[in-house]
Amino acid sequence: MMPTDNAAVWEMLAPRNIEFGPGSALKEFTHWRLSKGPDDIAWLVLDRANESANTLSEAVIAELDAALAEMEGIGAKGLVIRSAKEGGFIAGADIRDFKDVSEVREVEKRLRWAHGIIDRLAALAIPTVAVIHGYCYGGGLEVALACKYRIALSDAKLGFPEIRLGLHPGLGGTFRLTALIDPIEAMTMMLTGKTVHAKKAKAIGLVDAVVEERHVESAVRAAVAGKMKTDRGSWKSGVLGLAPARQLAARRFRAEAERRAPKQHYPAPYRLIDLWKEHGGDARAMQRAEITSFSELLVSDTAQNLMRVFFLREKLKDSAKGASAIRHVHVIGAGAMGGDIAAWCAARGLRVTLADLDHETIAKAIGRAAEFYDKKLHSSIERRDALDRLMPDFEGTGVAKADLVIEAVVEKTDVKRKLFDEIAPKIKEDAILATNTSSIPLEVLREGLAFPDRLVGLHFFNPVAKMELVEVVAHDKAGQATLDRALRFCGTIDRLPAAVKSAPGFLVNRCLTAYLTEAFVMVDEGTSKEIIDRAAEDFGMPMGPIALADRIGLDIGLDVVRMLKDKLDDPIPDIPAWLEAKVQNGETGRKAGKGLYVYDNRGKPKKTSDVPAPGQEMTDRLLLPMLNTCVRCLREGIVEDEETLDGAMIFATGFAPFRGGPMHYARSRGAADIVGTLKHLQQRHGSRFAPDEGWEALGEEP
Ligand code: NAI
Repeated sequence: MMPTDNAAVWEMLAPRNIEFGPGSALKEFTHWRLSKGPDDIAWLVLDRANESANTLSEAVIAELDAALAEMEGIGAKGLVIRSAKEGGFIAGADIRDFKDVSEVREVEKRLRWAHGIIDRLAALAIPTVAVIHGYCYGGGLEVALACKYRIALSDAKLGFPEIRLGLHPGLGGTFRLTALIDPIEAMTMMLTGKTVHAKKAKAIGLVDAVVEERHVESAVRAAVAGKMKTDRGSWKSGVLGLAPARQLAARRFRAEAERRAPKQHYPAPYRLIDLWKEHGGDARAMQRAEITSFSELLVSDTAQNLMRVFFLREKLKDSAKGASAIRHVHVIGAGAMGGDIAAWCAARGLRVTLADLDHETIAKAIGRAAEFYDKKLHSSIERRDALDRLMPDFEGTGVAKADLVIEAVVEKTDVKRKLFDEIAPKIKEDAILATNTSSIPLEVLREGLAFPDRLVGLHFFNPVAKMELVEVVAHDKAGQATLDRALRFCGTIDRLPAAVKSAPGFLVNRCLTAYLTEAFVMVDEGTSKEIIDRAAEDFGMPMGPIALADRIGLDIGLDVVRMLKDKLDDPIPDIPAWLEAKVQNGETGRKAGKGLYVYDNRGKPKKTSDVPAPGQEMTDRLLLPMLNTCVRCLREGIVEDEETLDGAMIFATGFAPFRGGPMHYARSRGAADIVGTLKHLQQRHGSRFAPDEGWEALGEEP
């Protein structure tokens, strides 16, 4: 735990020997602390009160101003800016300040004020040095860029993630970064939101030195004395100061941006490219344009919704907070899901034993894990350690040692129940038994189990490494302690949990089924697959329902549809006979090279590219059944609240993030409009569009 009061933080830092300047403060602010040593170097250390991480709130910026004013009278010959937080320098602006703002002029005013303070730092006549450890993002990097020197510790990570919130840097980052390093590199950093580690930051000139903690003080002295060698400016900066060269580069950036995200949904990259194209090289003009552009973006629906997604993630993360005391996971079933769950858990630092009836399958899963680690883990030591932690378990002995046993064997009730009979006597007394079933009711699986209170559903999504969500599924006999621990386990492995009740399809698959089956009906009616997919993509889905069905696997998808039709009275359309036949012929989707689309050997679908724009009705036909099911799930209490539902759909299916989630979209569009459209569709296409009664309650709420 991080102590929150300043004195305790200093005390905690001392034994770790983090250099934060002279011991006694000249002035203690609420968030900053100013001191000066016998060498006349002043240290301004940020330790945001009552927060575990440093972020820039208005109060923090205002105090920076006061601290800079204080500086003027103390005769310092240099200034160091550093963080007292263990995790890093400054994580960025406090985006709580950005939420629910709607007045562009008001934002501009606040921004101009903040720019004035950062400019004041940049204009100090004495050498200024940012000492950066850990995270240094967004506004934090902008503070660092306003210093004359940047010294990084080897764990520093620097970047501008604003683009992911539908924004671009707004506190001087656009002109300071493009002026400091190769503008192409700078623009790429801002357009992709990717972070750079200390070594790379040094290589591109973003930081001037990378040092160990014990050398911080001497590095600071060298910088203040003007003896730090810097490697700045490149021939590219010179060339790109010229408008024609920038025009050319901007065209390339624009083409790349179009490939990633359309302008009407994600305007920020395009605004940033224009900003640089028009004003690059002219700091003053760029600053003015940055303030205007950032303010306009900030009040846009896209940015506000993406910030909502940020907070949804925080909410799900919060529900996973705390130690799970799960150190050893035993996974049974090394197939598509089990193998990947095991690999993921080992990558996140857990000891994992992996069992399967078929030894060959275990070997293949370990091979897949090694490939994954090669791609995703940074150092050879991390890769080696992760592989060491992932142990093939041919005898299944891990079950007796594990804190958590996850079964991911075939989706057959009798197989799973038989497995439970075998393993239950061997499982540790305080261990949890989890099932990754996507359709078998937990009430069925817990029958005959001696400890039903310790059974829980941990429903991962495919691909495990990409889909952040895990549905944590309760049932009538599940113990609260088990459910809480399962939530915390998701935190341990860096996944986002959504607590759901046990009901056929839980939350995500049930809502998704309404969307996928309507797409099948459209294909059955003779609509081209490409147009259907385009309707969903134009709405903002990462892929259309046809491509998604192929990706999931038509065999798996149809199993879920059949089960849901059997167990629920949701109005799910019948599966067309030709689709059943396809699965029987082995045309099960992307994995088989053929499903609804035909795939090339790199797994890309062969599509007709030139398709006419789909009409609004097509989008509504796909989307509204999904929203209708979301409302039904809320009414039935499958999920506790709209925020968890929105987060679950975004992090499990990629539901258009800039829409803020299905329920947020429904609310923005208005319940009355949706109910009206559903009724219209009901008349034209049948009773499956009948609005759920849950809409009434939704209409009443503010
Ligand atoms: P899979 O068929 O790829 O793998 C199942 C593995 O279990 C096979 O390797 C098989 O040899 C092994 N197995 C069967 N009986 C066993 C036993 N008694 N002891 C040990 N190993 C045994 O199946 P997949 O797709 O990985 O699915 C596994 C579970 O995950 C199912 O419950 C499924 O519903 C669920 N799931 C699947 C998703 C998917 O997209 N494939 C998504 C989410 C959940």
